[in-house]
Amino acid sequence: MMRKDYISVLDAEDELTGLVQSALDLKKRRGAGENDDVLKGKTLALMFEKSSTRTRVSFEVAMNQLGGRSLFLNPQDMQLGRGESIPDTARTLSRYVDCIAYRAFDHEMVLDLARNSSIPVINALDDLEHPCQALADIVTILERRTPKGLKLTYVGDGNNVCNSLLLACSLIGIDISVACPEGYEPDQSIFEKARKLASQSGSRCDIIRDPKEAVHDSDIIYTDVWVSMGDEEEAKRRLEAFVDYQVNLSLVSLASPDCLIMHCLPAHRGQEITDEVVDGPRSIVFDQAENRLHAQKALLIALLR
Ligand code: CP
Ligand code: NVA
Repeated sequence: MMRKDYISVLDAEDELTGLVQSALDLKKRRGAGENDDVLKGKTLALMFEKSSTRTRVSFEVAMNQLGGRSLFLNPQDMQLGRGESIPDTARTLSRYVDCIAYRAFDHEMVLDLARNSSIPVINALDDLEHPCQALADIVTILERRTPKGLKLTYVGDGNNVCNSLLLACSLIGIDISVACPEGYEPDQSIFEKARKLASQSGSRCDIIRDPKEAVHDSDIIYTDVWVSMGDEEEAKRRLEAFVDYQVNLSLVSLASPDCLIMHCLPAHRGQEITDEVVDGPRSIVFDQAENRLHAQKALLIALLR
């Protein structure tokens, strides 16, 4: 049984494999033209404090394909933008809709919304995690590779995407190393939790400073932006700190010859990744983007049915 909410990858600790399988089944069924309108009559509210292309569109299309509806809410246009509290917003929305996907600056706000909602709340990205991305990433990996002995290296900022990926890989049994400069490590408590999960699943979870050493023999290299939404004021300092962490052809040449390249997108081409790599033959970044749709359909069904 899923927990009420999906705020962290840990909320699907026991369901991750089932969700991945369901996403792959839904993808196949969609490809064969089958209909899965199992969420008829259900409404998903999308409350987004930050910009989004993939998350917003894939959730809206997911609800359409499942026979339900979605409602996009800009917090600035809501009374929330004029000071109404998160708990009162949660209690009100719970009377109208069946689920809320919330993209927030502050993880505490997502927790507060979930605590005060009687309906499921999905974390659509916050400063700590991006669990919907990690779910789609595992779908994308497992449609191509088996987890045992697979080595993924995340190169760059130990941010929300990295935190959720650490938990997801460790749960599923994929070895994950994070190559990041000092001061830009993943969240410490998430890293410790991931280490424990990795030891249970028989995989490894490490931080390796040197990106060249880290990608050696990697089957997958994953990167994300150096300046996340909300970090814009630190941009100058960050661009300097990450200068040796670019995923370019020379770094990729140190990995395994059939190494896959992943990025949650949007990419800042020329910063964390070069055009040659993101557009190259090993890149699966748009499959990741597509799988957001199938993975979130699986998640919505698990939470709402
Ligand atoms: N990867 C991702 O979450 O993209 P958006 O910011 O476009 O939703
Ligand atoms: N780490 C990025 C991910 C965007 C999908 C951010 O938070 O801006």
